[in-house]
Amino acid sequence: MTHQPDPAARPLSAAEVAAVRADFPYLERPARNGRALAYLDWGATSQKPAAVIAREAEFLRRSNGAAGRSTYQIADEATAVWDGARRTVGAFVGARAEQVVFTKNATEAINLVALAIGHASLGRPAGRGGAIADAADPSRRLLVAPGDRIVVTRAEHHANLVPWQELAARTGAELRWLDLTGDGRIDPATADVITGRTRVVALTHASNVTGAITPLDAVLPAARAAGALVVLDTCQSAAHLPLDFAALSAAGVDAMVLSSHKMLGPTGIGALVAAEDLLQAMPPVLTGGSMIEVVRMESSTYMSGPARFEAGSQPLAQAAGWCTALEYLAGLGMDRLHAGEAALTERILEGLAGIDGLRLLGPTGADERLGVVAFTLDGVHPHDVGQVLDAAGVAVRTGHHCAQPLHAHFGVHASSRVSLGPTTTPEEVDRFLQAVASVRSYFLG
Ligand code: ALA
Repeated sequence: MTHQPDPAARPLSAAEVAAVRADFPYLERPARNGRALAYLDWGATSQKPAAVIAREAEFLRRSNGAAGRSTYQIADEATAVWDGARRTVGAFVGARAEQVVFTKNATEAINLVALAIGHASLGRPAGRGGAIADAADPSRRLLVAPGDRIVVTRAEHHANLVPWQELAARTGAELRWLDLTGDGRIDPATADVITGRTRVVALTHASNVTGAITPLDAVLPAARAAGALVVLDTCQSAAHLPLDFAALSAAGVDAMVLSSHKMLGPTGIGALVAAEDLLQAMPPVLTGGSMIEVVRMESSTYMSGPARFEAGSQPLAQAAGWCTALEYLAGLGMDRLHAGEAALTERILEGLAGIDGLRLLGPTGADERLGVVAFTLDGVHPHDVGQVLDAAGVAVRTGHHCAQPLHAHFGVHASSRVSLGPTTTPEEVDRFLQAVASVRSYFLG
C-alpha cells in the first residue's frame, strides 16, 4: 500500500479545531461585507499559522546571513537553518535529507526532472562546460529517445503535463496518458498505455479538481515492469495525507514534488524528493554559484547530491517558515487531520447532492478522495457562483484550476471548487452549502 491513513484515527475535537483556529491570524480579518471569512480554498494555497509567520520574520530579524559562504556567527546560523530544513522536510515525508532538493516551487521541481532528462537524453549528461564530480554517465533510466513513451494522466495539473509535453517534443518521444472513469478517477484499465518503451510515468497523487486519490497500487507495477522513471505530484496530498517516501519508493516511485505554500508554509519554496541514485544521475539544470566544486576559466566540476541542483542564493527565511509549518502539521497529526477532512467531505458531498441543478465533477463517494470538491451549477457561470459565495464570506476557487484537459473530460471549461484545511469547521461547510443552494435562485429566480 502506498498511502495508509490510520482508519482508527480520531478527527480533531471541536475544542482542538477551535485552538487551531486561534493560531491562524487570517481569521482575525473579515471577509467582504464584514462577514466572517470561511476560507475554503486550501487547495490553491493554505493559510499560515502565526508561528510560521513569526519564524520567517525571526530568521530575517536575527539570523539573516549568507548560508554556506562565510564563517561568522549569523552566516553559520543561516547555514544551519538550510541544512536543518533539508532534514525536516525529508523527515516529514519519510525521506532522508540527501534526497531533498529545494526548488522555487513544485512546478520548478517537475521541470527540473524533465529538463535533466532532456539534457541527458540529448547527449549533454554533465552540461556543456562541466562535469559531475563523482558520477560519470547518467543511468540509462534517464535516457528518452524517439519512439519511447512518456506517460501522464488526463487528471494532471498543467504543471505535471506541460513540462512532459516539452520533453516529448524535444526528444521525439510520444506523449500518452491514462484516461479517466466517468466520475473522473484515473482508470487503471487504461494503464496499457504503459508499454515496454515507456521511460517516464508522471502522475498526480490526488487530483486538485476531483480530490480523487490515484490508485497507485494498480498503476505502479506496469511502470516498474517497463523500468520507467515514476514522478509523483504530491502537491494536493502532502498536507492532507500521511506520506512516506520510503514506502512509495518501495512501490516504484522514484521522485515526488512538494509545494510549501499548500502545506501551511511560505510561497517561494518547494522540493523535489528523489532517490539518491536518480539525483546522482541527473545533470544540473541551473548552474552558477553554490553548485560547483572547482571552477576554471574553461570549465567546472559540479557537486554531488542535492546541492548540485541549488545554484545561487536560496530562500532561507522561507525554508525556516516551511519547517515550522511541517512541525505544526506533524503536531496535529496527519492521520487525525485526514480523518477530520474525510468527515467534512462527506458532509459536503451529502449537502451538494441535494441541490437542484448541481453537477459534481468527481467521485460522489467519500472513499479514496481528499477534501477537494468541484462542481458546476446549471445555467450559472462558475465565476458568478464564486461572487455569490464571496458575498456570503465564503472563499472558493473558480475557473479551470490549471487542469483544462480534466475539465474537457467532463465537457466543461470551468467549475467552482471547495477545498478544506485544518481550520475548516462544520459551520463553515454549512455556510458554504447554504450559499451554493441560494445561487440558482439568485440568478434564475
Ligand atoms: N494548483 C493550485 C490549485 O489547484 C493553484 O488551485
